Amino acid sequence: MKQVARQARAEGRPVGFVPTMGALHAGHMSLVGAAKSECHPVIASIFVNPSQFAPGEDFQKYPRTLEEDRKRLEEAGVDYLFAPEAAEMYPQGFSTWVNVDGLSDRLEGRVRPGHFRGVTTVVLKLLEIAQPQKAFFGRKDAQQARLIQRMARDLHLDCEIIVCPIVREPDGLAMSSRNAYLNAAERRAATVLHRALDGARREIERGERDALRLSAAMREVVRGEPLAQPDYVELVDAETLEPVTRLRRACLALLAVRFGATRLIDNLLIEERDGAFLATL
Ligand code: PAJ
Repeated sequence: MKQVARQARAEGRPVGFVPTMGALHAGHMSLVGAAKSECHPVIASIFVNPSQFAPGEDFQKYPRTLEEDRKRLEEAGVDYLFAPEAAEMYPQGFSTWVNVDGLSDRLEGRVRPGHFRGVTTVVLKLLEIAQPQKAFFGRKDAQQARLIQRMARDLHLDCEIIVCPIVREPDGLAMSSRNAYLNAAERRAATVLHRALDGARREIERGERDALRLSAAMREVVRGEPLAQPDYVELVDAETLEPVTRLRRACLALLAVRFGATRLIDNLLIEERDGAFLATL
């Protein structure tokens, strides 16, 4: 793998990298598309990373569809697929971890302690193996993308972290491998994430700047859905992930909601452009 990168580097081409846990859907494939448009070769990885799942989470039942995924990546023009075994990534005695302090403890990190330590550690290892100039992540996992950008900056990684838009189902539900866990009633209820965020988007378009009112309105929408149990609904600074009381610079409205045993996340990006706020689902 390192030879691929060395040769491409010598020829002045950027190597693109798309790390995934497989069970690929159009969201993942959009990252591949973005990588293909900017890079050659493009490397993808599929690794269900045990260290980012807490005991009792869905590591065992996480969907694994390696052969289908392999075909899909090949058809999309991915040049190399890296799909290691857990023992390869975490040999006996493995004991080095990367943690982004602060950003890791908030939001998802508060509900899933240790999760981001597993993510940043495996992503650093994968970047080290693939040696890309550009790595592509989805804004669907906005906190994860933010943490990885911080890690890249803090550790002087020679890799640009590119964050791509959220790909959604026709009814607005953000695509996720975990959507497959939902039963029919939960699947219908799951549109509440998009409905809550879209409500906030419309309020922002109408001029609302009060973050507390916006998050209260989102909570209200979620509360209206009997199958939805919210973990958090927050409006935060997109850079620091600290809560804000009024919209400023770039913000994120983030929510995590449980439907039975399935936990889904989604977010709205709010950016300031020429004095106005533009909200993107
Ligand atoms: P996974 O959940 O498989 O996601 C791989 C990449 O696809 C992530 O960058 C994620 O944000 C992006 N993605 C998922 N759903 C998306 C959607 N609907 N629209 C756009 N992008 C989407 O995230 C992970 O794997 C892991 O934590 C990983 C980074 C691979 C480390 O193990």
